[in-house]
Amino acid sequence: MSKTHLFDLDGKIAFVSGASRGIGEAIAKLLAQQGAHVIVSSRKIDGCQAVADAIIADGGKATAIACHIGEMEQIQSVFAQIREQFGRLDILVNNAATNPQFAHVLDTDLTAFQKTVDVNIRGYYFMSIEGGKLMKENGGGSIINVASINGVTPGDFQGIYSVTKAAVISMTKVFAKECAQFGIRCNALLPGLTDTKFASALVSNDAIRNEAMQHIPLKRVADPSEMAGAVLYLASDASSYTTGVSLNVDGGFLA
Ligand SMILES: NC(=O)c1ccc[n+]([C@@H]2O[C@H](COP(=O)([O-])OP(=O)(O)OC[C@H]3O[C@@H](n4cnc5c(N)ncnc54)[C@H](OP(=O)(O)O)[C@@H]3O)[C@@H](O)[C@H]2O)c1
Repeated sequence: MSKTHLFDLDGKIAFVSGASRGIGEAIAKLLAQQGAHVIVSSRKIDGCQAVADAIIADGGKATAIACHIGEMEQIQSVFAQIREQFGRLDILVNNAATNPQFAHVLDTDLTAFQKTVDVNIRGYYFMSIEGGKLMKENGGGSIINVASINGVTPGDFQGIYSVTKAAVISMTKVFAKECAQFGIRCNALLPGLTDTKFASALVSNDAIRNEAMQHIPLKRVADPSEMAGAVLYLASDASSYTTGVSLNVDGGFLA
């Protein structure tokens, strides 16, 4: 019996935002391991280059390109670069997000609100539009939006962040429905608490961590690598009939 090729990504071009560390880095490395040429992106090129170099040293294919997804001109220019350098895009992983304020909803700061909306909603939306146009030209592709369990059940003192993650779940369905005709699938990953810099304030605080454990049946925080397998499923032919879904990878939290 031969092994399945359902999860092979040979010849695919994949873009991962927020890939210089954390969940995005784990995703970029697994997609490259499965054969994709991965464009490793975040605001700061140095971190991206380090991840791309590690992939290449491991025998994979990667290119580092900086892009702040909260800046519309940078979204336009990164896609101009992808068109010029690769001419196609098969997999888009919208992973980079921001959560600048941890506060009671009545204390929401307008600047933090705007930044969260600009990056987490407008950024994902227009990255998907530009990615979708390029995928349409080449017969299809897969868009994966990293949302959060907070998009279903808002996290305490994470008001606007949770609202933006609910919007990501909604936009996933919008793109899934309207772009299916172009061979484009769009799905969301909903991570639970994962041990990254992003979650360090929560993970390193004993009181918050212990409270969180009360609600996580698997009784532990996830490692970033545990998010990557689900993204590989959604990126590959293994999920060819899956679109518009939210895949919870949360240790059972939402159950
Ligand atoms: N960790 C968790 O517990 C958890 C739970 C649920 C959902 N998530 C989601 O998982 C995703 C990744 O989070 P993480 O925990 O891996 O975070 P992380 O370790 O802090 O990494 C964030 C990444 O995003 C990049 N980034 C930040 N702002 C950006 C921007 N405006 N434009 C482009 N890149 C930007 C960062 O690099 P630069 O600084 O170089 O830009 C970095 O590569 C996010 O969507 C987050 O909401 C995380």
